Amino acid sequence: MPDNHKEHKKDGHYQQARKEGYRARSAYKLLDIQKRFNIFKRAFYILDLGCAPGSWLQVSKKLAIENVNKYQDQYYHRDHYKIMGIDLKKVSSIEDVNLFKLDFTEPEVHKVIEEYFQNSIDLILSDASINKTGNKFADQLNQIKLCLKVLEIANIHLKYKGTLVLKAFQGNDFNDLLKKIRSEFRILRTFKPKSSKKKSNEIYLIGLQKK
Ligand SMILES: C[S@@+](CC[C@H](N)C(=O)[O-])C[C@H]1O[C@@H](n2cnc3c(N)ncnc32)[C@H](O)[C@@H]1O
Repeated sequence: MPDNHKEHKKDGHYQQARKEGYRARSAYKLLDIQKRFNIFKRAFYILDLGCAPGSWLQVSKKLAIENVNKYQDQYYHRDHYKIMGIDLKKVSSIEDVNLFKLDFTEPEVHKVIEEYFQNSIDLILSDASINKTGNKFADQLNQIKLCLKVLEIANIHLKYKGTLVLKAFQGNDFNDLLKKIRSEFRILRTFKPKSSKKKSNEIYLIGLQKK
């Protein structure tokens, strides 16, 4: 077995994910983000871009069901949830979650999203990563390009005051990305979850209250 595979298996979050039925350790990154920013508060319509193998969808479904049961007041609430996951890879099915094998940088993505949600998405999540080539400069740039596509989707389909969670890598052009998010959301937070590997330069950007 290669060393990095052995390391991965020793990892506490990997073991915990197996025990708790999550498809990937990244579930705990989203749960860390939730603990800190309460991004799922009154989130009923959720879109996950770059969702494979599906652990963020599993977390989203659990919290959306809790919301449907918990919020039955005069404020914004719904009696059902809608969750869609999009990825280049095939994702094995999750009951009541709408899955698409699609490149979300392609224009047809808009039709698929619009038909399902009609511009009323409460929360857009993106843990999407490019395939790293090893060239740090090019990788960073391509990841930023992917983030800009996510922002474009959020710009069109996320509701007013909605929330966005986006994975980026720190490096060149990072500040421009922050600036762009700041222009589209009233609040921007950056966050490195405890469960994110220390050596990774990934960072999560949280846009709150879309303008
Ligand atoms: C780190 S994984 C996501 C893990 C997921 N959050 C989970 O918890 O299971 C990143 C995913 O982004 C997807 N991805 C990258 N670029 C994409 C694109 N243009 N369109 C769709 N999916 C993309 C990759 O295929 C990969 O499955």
